Amino acid sequence: MAETVLQTPAPRAAVQRMHAYHPPLSGRQGLRLDFNENTVACSPRVLEALGRIAASDLARYPEREQVETKVAQHLGLKPEQVLLTNGVDEAIHVLCQTYLDRGDEFLFPTPTYSMYEVYGSCTDAAVKTVPSREDFAFPVEALLAAITPQTRLIAIASPNSPTGTVASREQILQVLHRAPQAVVLVDEAYYHFCGQTVMDLAGQVPNLVVARTFSKAYGLAGLRLGMLAAPAGIQQWLRTVISPYSVNSLALACLPAALDDEEYLGWYVDEVKAARSEMVESLRRFGVPQWPTQANFVLVKIGPRHAEFVQAMHRRGVLTRDRSKDQGCDGCVRMTVGTREQMKQAVAAMTEALNEIGWKRA
Ligand SMILES: Cc1ncc(COP(=O)(O)O)c(C=O)c1O
Repeated sequence: MAETVLQTPAPRAAVQRMHAYHPPLSGRQGLRLDFNENTVACSPRVLEALGRIAASDLARYPEREQVETKVAQHLGLKPEQVLLTNGVDEAIHVLCQTYLDRGDEFLFPTPTYSMYEVYGSCTDAAVKTVPSREDFAFPVEALLAAITPQTRLIAIASPNSPTGTVASREQILQVLHRAPQAVVLVDEAYYHFCGQTVMDLAGQVPNLVVARTFSKAYGLAGLRLGMLAAPAGIQQWLRTVISPYSVNSLALACLPAALDDEEYLGWYVDEVKAARSEMVESLRRFGVPQWPTQANFVLVKIGPRHAEFVQAMHRRGVLTRDRSKDQGCDGCVRMTVGTREQMKQAVAAMTEALNEIGWKRA
């Protein structure tokens, strides 16, 4: 028998064209203002729920139905309109896998959440982006103009990351009506810090899908929990594609406790909103340009020395995120807002870091 020379197989052409996405996955020590997580903890009730898990519970495959019913009740939806996911990231992935074929277009404004591009480019469809103007307001006219009969999926993060700006209900409705052939994802990952929502339309408008995450205000980023609200006619296909066990038993055991502790959620959200006002005021005093934010972070313009600023903050124990490579974000850094106490630490570090880079008011 002739000896076969073994070779490493190449991935699909679409995957070969993708840019690798490398978020820092280790060594995030200090005050973590780089990933818009809850900067304190989840509700103590979640830990109690974890403590009640028996070894035999882990021996079974996860059962998500009851928890989906609970989430549906919490949001005023029907159980068949709710899909729990392994974070909103999985939800985006499943939407791309379900709706995007060769020749289709996935449309979204930029700058925005990186995973739309990642999961979109992983399909055979075309990723089509609409750049925002300098004020980062939702570019509704440009987005409407970019819709074609091939547009099959549209993503709108509201509040958006990394900008913190929102799309109004009227603007979202305009997009929904202009693109009846497309599924429109409204990603409300930062809803709690803003309060504006279209969740009440979920299940009513046939092409609307609304996403929420438990990674931000609820402080459960490590458990990987997100959800999609959509009409049963959409959910039926998403359930065909999604792994039935992608939300694990620990996450499912914890979610009801997190939902029930509204007091904890309320405390954290109020704390962040108060800290955000103080942070905005401090930035104004420093003369650092910023964009009006409705989320638990703020995007600031540091200018050419942005990388040195991020390092100077890091040396002082505060992690921030350099966003200068995002569309229109040259020289920009994003900082998560935590509690008022934590923001005092961040502002102290910022005073020194700005000094170090020779910051001069415009
Ligand atoms: C707009 C937006 N959507 C979704 C996510 C991801 O959420 P999850 O942790 O649930 O995957 C993020 C995380 O930063 C985000 O900024």
